[in-house]
Amino acid sequence: MEEALPRLSLALPEGGGLDPRSLFGDLGVTDVGLEVGFGGGEHLAAQAATNPRRGFIGCEPFLNGVVNLVDVIEREHLSNVRLFMGDARRVLAALVPDSLACVWVLFPDPWPKLRHAKRRFIEPATLDLLARVLKSGATLRCATDVPDLAVWMRDHLNAHPRFVREYDAPSPPPDHVPTRYERKALLAGRVPTYLEYRRP
Ligand SMILES: C[S@@+](CC[C@H](N)C(=O)[O-])C[C@H]1O[C@@H](n2cnc3c(N)ncnc32)[C@H](O)[C@@H]1O
Repeated sequence: MEEALPRLSLALPEGGGLDPRSLFGDLGVTDVGLEVGFGGGEHLAAQAATNPRRGFIGCEPFLNGVVNLVDVIEREHLSNVRLFMGDARRVLAALVPDSLACVWVLFPDPWPKLRHAKRRFIEPATLDLLARVLKSGATLRCATDVPDLAVWMRDHLNAHPRFVREYDAPSPPPDHVPTRYERKALLAGRVPTYLEYRRP
């Protein structure tokens, strides 16, 4: 961790203006995707392994999750992953416009109490941030096993003028990679909702 985390971590420039492709040096990545709250990192690692020409940014403040993903990155020699150990909104705010090809928000913290609803990741201000950094044609995939949060996310995404719905179902899109949290939810008999929106 001491050696690998600084090498894999991205630093946010003070004034913003971060082009995410510049994080991958001479790897020559064609585009960049970002995962919000990658948890144990299984989904991000699988995406990085199957898409070596794409760069991936993982944002996660939870130390154990970061340790887990760093371990996988090192063992599998994944050179196309960069990490931010903190709030993904800080990365989104620092990126140049139209710079991401996809974003995943998979099984975010539900914040079930209405008085905590502002803490939910999918809300109008964050959707504005996402709409700014996703390029035309880029996708935002969200999933949750909490029915009230599914309604909340769908309503806010449908109401946003810069997102178009592409997918809304209780089964995952064909190219979906299950997360650790999702496996537990399925084992417990909960039925997730999978949503995908495109930036026109
Ligand atoms: C319920 S867990 C799901 C983890 C993983 N996506 C999965 O499905 O296994 C939600 C994760 O989001 C992270 N998280 C919460 N708010 C975040 C934020 N603003 N930016 C980045 N990660 C965040 C939490 O630390 C936690 O690990």
